[in-house]
Amino acid sequence: MTVKTLKDLLDEGVTGRHVLVRSDFNVPLNDAGEITDPGRIDASLPTIKALVDGGARVVLMAHLGRPKGEVNPKFSLAPVAEALSERLDQYVALAGDVVGEDAHERANGLNDGDVMLIENVRFDPRETSKDEEQRKEFATQLASLTGDNGAFVSDGFGVVHRAQTSVYDVAKLLPHYAGQLVNKEISTLAKVAENPDKPYVVVLGGSKVSDKLGVIKALAPKTDALIIGGGMCYTFLAAQGHNVQKSLLQEDMIDTCKQLMETYGDAIVLPVDLIAASEFDKNAESKVVDLDGIPEGWMSLDIGPKSVELFEERLSSAKTIFWNGPMGVFEFEKFAAGTKGVAEAMIKATANGAFSVVGGGDSAASVRTLGLDEDGFSHISTGGGASLEFLEGKKLPGVAVLEA
Ligand code: 3PG
Repeated sequence: MTVKTLKDLLDEGVTGRHVLVRSDFNVPLNDAGEITDPGRIDASLPTIKALVDGGARVVLMAHLGRPKGEVNPKFSLAPVAEALSERLDQYVALAGDVVGEDAHERANGLNDGDVMLIENVRFDPRETSKDEEQRKEFATQLASLTGDNGAFVSDGFGVVHRAQTSVYDVAKLLPHYAGQLVNKEISTLAKVAENPDKPYVVVLGGSKVSDKLGVIKALAPKTDALIIGGGMCYTFLAAQGHNVQKSLLQEDMIDTCKQLMETYGDAIVLPVDLIAASEFDKNAESKVVDLDGIPEGWMSLDIGPKSVELFEERLSSAKTIFWNGPMGVFEFEKFAAGTKGVAEAMIKATANGAFSVVGGGDSAASVRTLGLDEDGFSHISTGGGASLEFLEGKKLPGVAVLEA
């Protein structure tokens, strides 16, 4: 089954038509409510600009955080509307509600080439409801923002693994098209998932083994090396019998980690030294330690220099690399070296001809936060969970629905 794309929609003509676009504007904010990494907003611009240039009346929808079905100003899309206005060089109004009077009035008032944003779709409990009827009702209200000749463009790659109203149900009610970002992400990730050039090396970080279990099982048999760092490596190290002291640990996953290491043997590559910290603080006392050397009551917040060397060596000969999840608490300068080292090794391998993909979320943010060259990688995905589920071989509901 083929999926219609933005190009098909533009060929049909969008002048004067309302086009509802699902984007992923789930960007990190600091305590002052400022966007700390606008990567996802920037990645959404090509689709929006193409629609504006085509004369569409663009209604954007997205979620921010997990407000659990309640209106909460902390999760307002106001900073996103502002960032979009700056980047598009035109005013992007934010409706005061999701599908209420204000959203409808503003949508009706759009002129050709105008862009507006409705409030956080997760302010409405029906967005994430398990009840199909409730989602259908909400989808009908979202679709009604487009009037008679509307269309739906799915461009929030980061959220296509969620069967939620604005991603999934709304596509059943309107002519639907994959946006440029969704298209680009899928075709790039398919190269890694389907027939990766060997050696194929995957680097996984992140805090919980349980979150990555599916992907470890799916990828370990396909990879030449599955490098594990970040918060989840301590459960593996504990399974090897090391005392990880107060480092992040999922005790109920220790047996699972043992089994994974037995099944996949040398394919799983773990750190060989660590950076221990006296406490979880950017100014904590710190020192390089071997795997059994974390002082009592301390915790490890990064992989050590020998681990970086080991990981670099494995990455240097790779022809395909996929990386998801930081190696340590990169937000604290003292504990950023592991993540930076792995990212730099990927950049080097890319320069030598490897195809490298950074999975979204924290790893993509870390590339930008650490001031690394984004162009040094073959692709930086905007989807964390979505890219992992794609590589795991799962069907993504927000993509599957576009095929119908
Ligand atoms: C993400 O940040 O990975 C996506 O925007 C999905 O958000 P969610 O995990 O809250 O559904």
